[in-house]
Amino acid sequence: MILDLPNPQRAAQWCIAQRAAGRSLGFVPTMGALHEGHLSLVRHAVSHNDSTCVSIFVNPLQFNETDDFVRYPRDHEFDKQLLQDEGCDMVFSGTLSQFFPGANSPDDIKTTDPGKFATGLEGDHRPGHFAGVRTIVEQLFKTAGQCTAYFGEKDFQQTLVVKDLAGSLGYPNIDVRPTIREKDGLAMSTRNALLRAEDRVRAGCLYKALMSAKRLWRKGERDADALREAMRSELIKAEIEIDYADLRDPENWQAESPHGVMQRARGLIAVHLGNVRLIDNKQLND
Ligand code: PAJ
Repeated sequence: MILDLPNPQRAAQWCIAQRAAGRSLGFVPTMGALHEGHLSLVRHAVSHNDSTCVSIFVNPLQFNETDDFVRYPRDHEFDKQLLQDEGCDMVFSGTLSQFFPGANSPDDIKTTDPGKFATGLEGDHRPGHFAGVRTIVEQLFKTAGQCTAYFGEKDFQQTLVVKDLAGSLGYPNIDVRPTIREKDGLAMSTRNALLRAEDRVRAGCLYKALMSAKRLWRKGERDADALREAMRSELIKAEIEIDYADLRDPENWQAESPHGVMQRARGLIAVHLGNVRLIDNKQLND
């Protein structure tokens, strides 16, 4: 039976006990509403560690719109069963005031500086988002302690922010795992379930756009504007509202939005379909 700890302090004690018993610990932070993307991380954690824990906490600090936070799907018992079926040993959750003693509402919490990777793209379009992510992930890391924490490449910029956090804390090890996709290439996401049927069909265009830039790269195209245009034209064809369809040198994130010749490139896209916002990304060079 999976252990269900609705209290981060008790979860921390459990994690300490695993290490004391000489067991390696895998940790997967989530906001619940688990799908195959999350479960791929859990499966990997279970097969590479002696013990595995998952956190489920819908973090109010990282949502830009109250409405998005309120309608975020929650089903603890269902998630718990999925985790148990995967062989996960412990799931923990908590309340805002358990993670941040003294806080009764998000307004009582002073978020931390999200660091240098929080600038541009998601950072520009979702002000405060990465500060909210980093603030809770710091608490989650402090709860789990020394372990290997697994994150999905789907949220590429988030992986940079949490690696930066882990670098400054000195733990945990971060393992970034590939994006799990639907048959048409759409990256699995909790928000996909909120798409209207016709938008779900159009959502396949994000992957098409990334693959069209990747095909150009394979043919030898290195011009940033041409690669960006390849992504944009697929999205425009499908009449999708674009937040950004851009490129970054993944090793030099802070460089201005790239122009001219790229040595390495990752394509990153954010769009709106109805009232659902979707993101995806892909490395163009292999
Ligand atoms: P959440 O959106 O629940 O995602 C939890 C983890 O699952 C993240 O590392 C995310 O990148 C990964 N993930 C989501 N979809 C995936 C997919 N299709 N393939 C592979 N991995 C996928 O990300 C968060 O929660 C929060 O920001 C959190 C880190 C928990 C902090 O609140």
